[in-house]
Amino acid sequence: MNNFNKNISFEKEVTRVHTGLEELDGLLAGGLPQNSVTLISGTPGSGKSIMCFHYVLEGLQSSEKCLYLTSDERIDSIVKQANELGFDFWPAVEKGQLKFMYVDLDKRSIHKEIEDEIDNNDYTRVVLDSLTPVAEVPVWVSGVHEIAPTEHSKMTKEMPLGSVPTTRTHVRHILNILSKKNCTAMVTSEVPEGSRSLSRDTISEFLVDGIILMDLDMTMDRRKLIIRKMRATKHTLKPHDIAITAGGIQFL
Ligand SMILES: Nc1ncnc2c1ncn2[C@@H]1O[C@H](COP(=O)(O)OP(=O)(O)OP(=O)(O)O)[C@@H](O)[C@H]1O
Ligand SMILES: [Mg+2]
Repeated sequence: MNNFNKNISFEKEVTRVHTGLEELDGLLAGGLPQNSVTLISGTPGSGKSIMCFHYVLEGLQSSEKCLYLTSDERIDSIVKQANELGFDFWPAVEKGQLKFMYVDLDKRSIHKEIEDEIDNNDYTRVVLDSLTPVAEVPVWVSGVHEIAPTEHSKMTKEMPLGSVPTTRTHVRHILNILSKKNCTAMVTSEVPEGSRSLSRDTISEFLVDGIILMDLDMTMDRRKLIIRKMRATKHTLKPHDIAITAGGIQFL
């Protein structure tokens, strides 16, 4: 068997989850690998949330149960923003097929709340929009073994840690929770303007299975989508021209 055929048979073994964008699925050998976590990375306004809207809509249309975790308290305004682009999420929210859940970063129990929600439901698609403030929440330890935030750590002597290994453990824990059971996750990540990094925390890009970069070329007034990595997938690294229109993301 030559190398090309080996790749094809390998890719066939992976169950693929459609992204909601047919052209993107085509570039990803059919979609995201099931049970994976993909970082949707980009500067403000680059279309990260809109990418997640496509992903959720695709799930709803296939009768899947979807969870949209947001660090934005104004859930109504997210649903309204989606609605303006033609994504009508209210009926699914009312039916209980889609849940928007506010991740309150002031609480120390964010790991547990997200984990309980996923454990107690049959979600197949999870979105975390965005990982950046979650990754930046102060991490606390109490005792040698425990990495918080947890309820328990409230009751014991606390020590904030900002070290790379602690942030890494915290981010890895969150990402592991998101791909539990049959879930396949999209996680948005803010990249500061002009940065060469793929996330503001500079760690999550190493822990995820895939990275899709939403790029803005301000001088040329153009948008590009780049698949930077995807586990178990042979893909091009070539930038693809996209546009955001009244109906969401379009490949040009
Ligand atoms: N109807 C529309 N037609 C064309 N472009 C639009 C339309 N609606 C929104 N956009 C574009 O989409 C952008 C918002 O996309 P989105 O909210 O997905 O970005 P984001 O990467 O999630 O931003 P943030 O980092 O601020 O959360 C707007 O800044 C605008 O450029
Ligand atoms: Mg957004």
